[in-house]
Order: sequence, then structure tokens, then C-alpha cells
Amino acid sequence: MANKTNVLGIDIGGSVIKGAPVNIKKGMLSGRRLEVPTPEVSTPKIVIKTCAEMAGQFNWKGPIGFTYPGVIKKGIALSAANIDKSWIGINGEKMLAEQMGCPVLLLNDADAAGIAEMNFGSGKNQKGVVILLTLGTGIGSAIFIDGKLVPNTEFGHMEVRGKDAEHRAAARVRIVENLSWEDWADNLNEVLNRMEVLFSPDLFILGGGVSQNHIKFLPLLKTTARIVPAQMGNDAGIIGAAMAAGRKFAEKK
Ligand code: BGC
Repeated sequence: MANKTNVLGIDIGGSVIKGAPVNIKKGMLSGRRLEVPTPEVSTPKIVIKTCAEMAGQFNWKGPIGFTYPGVIKKGIALSAANIDKSWIGINGEKMLAEQMGCPVLLLNDADAAGIAEMNFGSGKNQKGVVILLTLGTGIGSAIFIDGKLVPNTEFGHMEVRGKDAEHRAAARVRIVENLSWEDWADNLNEVLNRMEVLFSPDLFILGGGVSQNHIKFLPLLKTTARIVPAQMGNDAGIIGAAMAAGRKFAEKK
């Protein structure tokens, strides 16, 4: 049930859409979790309809936090690397709010995962410059300075030897190109090292589904900064989105 503590989080990804009610004070799911594949034709209308069906299954009547796999400024999608290009320029937040009939916040998926990790996971109480990367269909990024997020960083599109970083080191690349953990870790090292030159982070947090297998690749990574796996697993986006929405709508009262 929606209240000050329970907010619905829905994480719209390039491959799956997942959602659950979240206890935003504890940073954990407070009800069942639903997951459906992202529709093959992932236009705003079709994706929003899928999200509405999901919210309907929860019979939700309160604030909802949504993530989006691209840049979101003031509710508007400004990029669409792993989702239909027709999102660009669309006020997704407004469309979602109209369709759901609830207060809605829309934010970048990696920023949402970062908010969850910094509050309840590997980034808790971490000062200095922290960079979280989500390694999935693409590479998402979130950078925090003394716990404060600088939104919409797009390190996955940083060019590394003529290619986007995410086309070298996203988790998907390892599967599609059938790379060994060692070869994939070499690609990831290249991306991480470039980021160290540019940002001198104190800590890297690596998230995304592949972080469950951190034992296989974390020891192969060579960075000056400390590097740790994310702790919130696949639910980080859901939890961070719900937290961000909870904060926004609490402020408004
Ligand atoms: C997008 C990012 C997103 C990441 C993970 C990238 O292609 O540009 O905004 O966070 O994929 O979904």
C-alpha cells in the first residue's frame, strides 16, 4: 500500500522492465517484484502502456519513481541508446503521470541505482568522488561528490579507441562476443583507467547483473582507486527510483 514509507519503483531497462513497492526508509522491497521483457518495439506509447499494466497489477495509487535508460532532464528524454529513438524530446515523466494518474518522477537508471547504493549499499558513508558503473545492456554511470549526485553523466559513451566504452565493456559485449572473463576484464580496465585519468575517483562501485559474478572479474581489474561490487543487486534501480520519488513528493507537501 502506498504511504510515506512505501513508494512504487519501476525500472525501465533496455532488456527488461521490473518493478516493486519499496520501503524507502529501509532501502528494500516491501512487496512482490514483477518483471517483463521490454517490448521489442520500445516506443514511449508501448513502453508506458506496459508500465501502466504493471502499476495496475500492484493496484498502485501513490507516487511512483521510474527509471529510463538514457538522459532525463526535467522529465524529458534527451538520449536513447538502448531504447526506441522516438523517446528523444518526449516528456516521459508527463506522459507517465497522465497514464498512471499518480505523481511520477522519471530519472536516469544508473543515477537511480547510484542513489540506492550510496544510501544503503556499497557507497554508504563514502565521501570523496565515487563513480558507480552499471554493466548491463549498456554502461550506465553515476558520479557522487561527498554523497551528492551529479546527474546524467554518460561515461558509457566516452570514446575509447574509436568506440563507445559500452561497446567495449558492457556485460552484453562479453556474452555477444563470447569473451573470456580475462578478455572482457582487459576491455573494462581500459575504460576504468581512462576514467581514472579524467576524474581521479576515490572509489568505483560496479553494478548490473554481472556484479553477482564479481569473484570472476574483480580480481582482474587494475585501478588506483578502490573498487567494490554493488550490493543492491538487480533491485538497485527500483529502490533508487522509489527513493527519489519519495523525496520529491515529500518535499512538495
Ligand atoms: C545510456 C545511459 C544508461 C545506460 C544503462 C546507456 O546507453 O546512455 O543513460 O544509463 O545505457 O542503461
